[in-house]
Amino acid sequence: MREKPDVRTIASIGYTVSVGNQATRQGINVLVVDDEESQRAPLAAMISGWGFNVETAPDGQEALEKLETFSANVIITDLMMPRMDGFELMKRLGAEGNMPPAIVLTAFGNIETAIETIHDLGAFWFMEKPIQPAALRVLLERAAQQSSLAEEAERLHRQLSYSGVLVDMVGTSRQMQQVFTIIQQVAPSKAAVLVVGESGTGKELVARAIHQLSPRKTAPFVAINCAAMPETLMESELFGYEKGAFTGALERRAGCFELAQHGTLLLDELAEMPSGTQAKLLRVLEDSRLRRLGGKSEISIDVRVIAATNRTLDDALKKGDLREDLFYRLNVFQIQLAPLRQRLDDLPILTETLLNNLNRKHSCKVTSVTPEVMEAFRKYNWPGNVRELRNVLERAVIMAGEGPIQMAHLPYDFGVSVGSRPPAQVFEPENVRLPVGTTVAEAEKALIQLTLQHTKNNKTRAAEILGISLKTLFNKLKEYGSSDTAEATA
Ligand SMILES: Nc1ncnc2c1ncn2[C@@H]1O[C@H](COP(=O)(O)OP(=O)(O)OP(=O)(O)O)[C@@H](O)[C@H]1O
Ligand SMILES: [Mg+2]
Repeated sequence: MREKPDVRTIASIGYTVSVGNQATRQGINVLVVDDEESQRAPLAAMISGWGFNVETAPDGQEALEKLETFSANVIITDLMMPRMDGFELMKRLGAEGNMPPAIVLTAFGNIETAIETIHDLGAFWFMEKPIQPAALRVLLERAAQQSSLAEEAERLHRQLSYSGVLVDMVGTSRQMQQVFTIIQQVAPSKAAVLVVGESGTGKELVARAIHQLSPRKTAPFVAINCAAMPETLMESELFGYEKGAFTGALERRAGCFELAQHGTLLLDELAEMPSGTQAKLLRVLEDSRLRRLGGKSEISIDVRVIAATNRTLDDALKKGDLREDLFYRLNVFQIQLAPLRQRLDDLPILTETLLNNLNRKHSCKVTSVTPEVMEAFRKYNWPGNVRELRNVLERAVIMAGEGPIQMAHLPYDFGVSVGSRPPAQVFEPENVRLPVGTTVAEAEKALIQLTLQHTKNNKTRAAEILGISLKTLFNKLKEYGSSDTAEATA
C-alpha cells in the first residue's frame, strides 16, 4: 500500500485535504475495514498518504485473518458489514486481548451506538461518515500515540517482570515468571480468569495485578468471598436487591456486580458458592445482564470476572462443589500458583520485599536474614505459603527490631519437622488440659505459668519457648500481678 493516492477518487467522495504528505508515520500500522470498495480504497490511500502503513479488509472475518500477519497499531472499522460486522470484530479482539485503539466509522451514527461502541467494545473513538479528514488525522495521530504508550508501558512491565516484579508481586522462579507472562497477556482483555492455588499463594494479588494492568484499572476492583455465606445472602450480595424484596430490605442496594461496573470482580473461594447461586451466576455471565432481587427490570453490566479457588479443580468438579458449566465459562484462562515449597527460588526476593514492607509498617530496621535462617526457610514446608512467610517475618522483625534476622527470632518450633531445631518439649497433658469456656487470656496466662515452671523460672528461656520477647513476658507478668517482674533469671 505504498502507491501514490489518486486525488480525484478521494475528492469524489468528499475528502478535501491534500494527500501525498510525505511519510512522517513510518512504522505505524493501520488496518482499514470497510465492505465498500469505493470507500475503503480511497480512505486507505489517504491514510497511506499521511505516512502510515495501511492494509485493508472488506469485513471482520478477513480483518481477523489479516491481523495474524499484520500487527495493527490502529484499526479503523465500519460497523455494518456482511459476514462479520464491526461489533463482532471488536468483541473478538477484546476477548482475545488483542485490541489496538479502534476508530469506529458508521453511516448510521447516533449517540447510543457511539456510547455502546466506546463503552462496551472499548472503541477508541467514533466517527460519523462522511469523514472529516482533518479530524480523522488528529484521531489517528492520537490513537497511534496511545498505542505506542501502551507498548512502552508493556515493555516496561516486561522488563520489570524479568527482574522479578509485577505490580505488587515478586518472584524470580520459573513458575512465577510464567505466571507474570500470562497475567500480562490476559490483562488487556475482558476474558474470564480462574486462579487456582493453595491458601496464601497470592491468588488475590494475581487478580489485583490483572486489574491494575487492564484498561479497567481506573474502575473499581471488588472482591467477594463466596465461602460460608448462605444462599440468600450470597445472592443479595452479588446481585443487589430492591426495597421490600425480602423482610429487612429497607432500601435498594447495589450488589457486587453493579459496584464493579466497568471494573473487575473477584469471586474468591468460588467452589464454596452454593450450587443454586452458581447457576444464577452463570446466567448473568452469559447475558451480561442481571436483575436485582425483587427487581423488575434488567441491568446491563460490564464486569470482568476473575474467580479463585484453593481447591483442586478435579476434586471440586468431581464432588459437584463447582458446577461444570460455570467452570467452563470461567476457565477461559487458568493461572496455577505453585505452592511456595515448590518454588524455593522465590524465597530471597520474597523475603527482601516482605522485610521492606514490614520495616515500614513497624518502623524497624531489619536488614536481611542470616544464611542459617534462609537455609531453614528453604528446608521448611510452608503449608501456609507466602502468607505464612510474611507472618514468620513479621514476628521476627518485631523481635529483632534491627540488624539481620537470626534463628532465635523464628518461632521456637520452626522447622522442627526438618530437624533444624530440637523438637519442642511436650507438656504433660494433665498440666495443659483446658476446659471449654477458658478465655484466650486465661489460656495465655496458664501457658506462661506452665512454661516458667518448666524452665525453672528462667524467663529468657521461657520467652524463647513462648516465641515472645523478654519485655513482653515481663509485661504479661506485671499484668498478672506477679511479684518477680524485675529480675530476669537468665
Ligand atoms: N508473589 C508475591 N509477592 C509478594 N507478596 C505476595 C506474593 N504472593 C503472596 N504475597 C503476599 O502473601 C499474602 C497472601 O496473599 P493472597 O491473599 O493474595 O493469597 P491467597 O492465595 O488469596 O490466599 P487465600 O487462599 O488464603 O485467600 C499477602 O500478604 C500477599 O501480599
Ligand atoms: Mg484470597
